[in-house]
Amino acid sequence: MNEPLKKTDHRDYRVVGLPGDGIGPEVYACARRVLNVLEQTHGLCIQLDEQKIGGDAIDATGDPLPQATIDACRASDAALLGAVGGPKWDNNPADRRPELGLLRIRAEFNLFCNLRPIVTHPSLHSFSPLRPELLEEVDLMIVRELTGGSYFGKKWRNEDEAEDVCRYTREEIERVTRAAGRIAGLRDNRITLVDKANVLETSRLWRSVASRVIEEEFPGVRMENMYVDAAAMHLLTRPSDFDVMLTENLFGDILSDEASMLCGSLGLLPSASLNHEQFGLYEPVHGSAPDIAGQGKANPYAMLLSVAMMLRHSLGREAEAQALEQSIHECWSAGILTRDLRADGCSTNEVTDAVCERLTGLAAV
Ligand code: IPM
Ligand code: MG
Repeated sequence: MNEPLKKTDHRDYRVVGLPGDGIGPEVYACARRVLNVLEQTHGLCIQLDEQKIGGDAIDATGDPLPQATIDACRASDAALLGAVGGPKWDNNPADRRPELGLLRIRAEFNLFCNLRPIVTHPSLHSFSPLRPELLEEVDLMIVRELTGGSYFGKKWRNEDEAEDVCRYTREEIERVTRAAGRIAGLRDNRITLVDKANVLETSRLWRSVASRVIEEEFPGVRMENMYVDAAAMHLLTRPSDFDVMLTENLFGDILSDEASMLCGSLGLLPSASLNHEQFGLYEPVHGSAPDIAGQGKANPYAMLLSVAMMLRHSLGREAEAQALEQSIHECWSAGILTRDLRADGCSTNEVTDAVCERLTGLAAV
């Protein structure tokens, strides 16, 4: 997220495919189909290099993030991940857990800027537990710091005590604040910095560093401060008031699951994790849902929206990103939804068929 991506005529890309565990391979297969359609309709050439991560990688190599996967990512423009984790590996020791593959890829590639867009759509209002009138015009971008804080601080545990150190440096706060400032500049120029500055020293550092960066470098952007407990409440009482929400790693993890309910289902939420070099890891926010794996029930929309984010942020293909998003929104308007949202809903593949059909139709106009 250093500079906004320049438009290029470049059409050849390399993307690492990381199907992973549970429903990961099913939703990843949907992404592959959509990329094939884009090759035919828009002349993109996306070479997919499939690699292992998470439980799948532990079973094959003993390591949740094998060196081959790291090497493939280094040689690519982006990585597209399905999901990691499942009960099979729940009792594994800490260094052999599937989630570690995800945490290590974030650290290895310095993916400090996690974007989670929360946009409601009128045809989905009835699926949210919130009243429809609260959901109108919700368009919020969560910018979550992804490589610092208690996730990556020193950790230890004995029989009686445990500790997870939450540490942030000025540079870590500055770079993600700059990313949020640039994103706000493309939107409504408003940032809400969410923290717990009445209690935590790290939050007090966030406030002073972030406000200086915004004041000095983004004079058009307004930043307000909000405590995380209040933010959790305001997300439910007045969600449409937010534009960009900037926050640290753990708060962002919690608030983004909460905010997903505004859209109706966790199965609809994409994410991008970016570094300075425009390399990004794109993945649905939902997990591996082992209870429904292999049954054709998985909701592929979060994955397909993640493909759109990849086209936009790492491949510089804004037109294709918009065409894909438009195809998805048309499917929502037509009520084409999986069974997490409607008892008589479609299968994973039927939803993907419908998206591909619309994408082809758009290209023909
Ligand atoms: C997420 C997930 C991960 C996180 C887990 C799987 C480690 O919940 O991406 O939000 O906590 O960051
Ligand atoms: Mg999470």
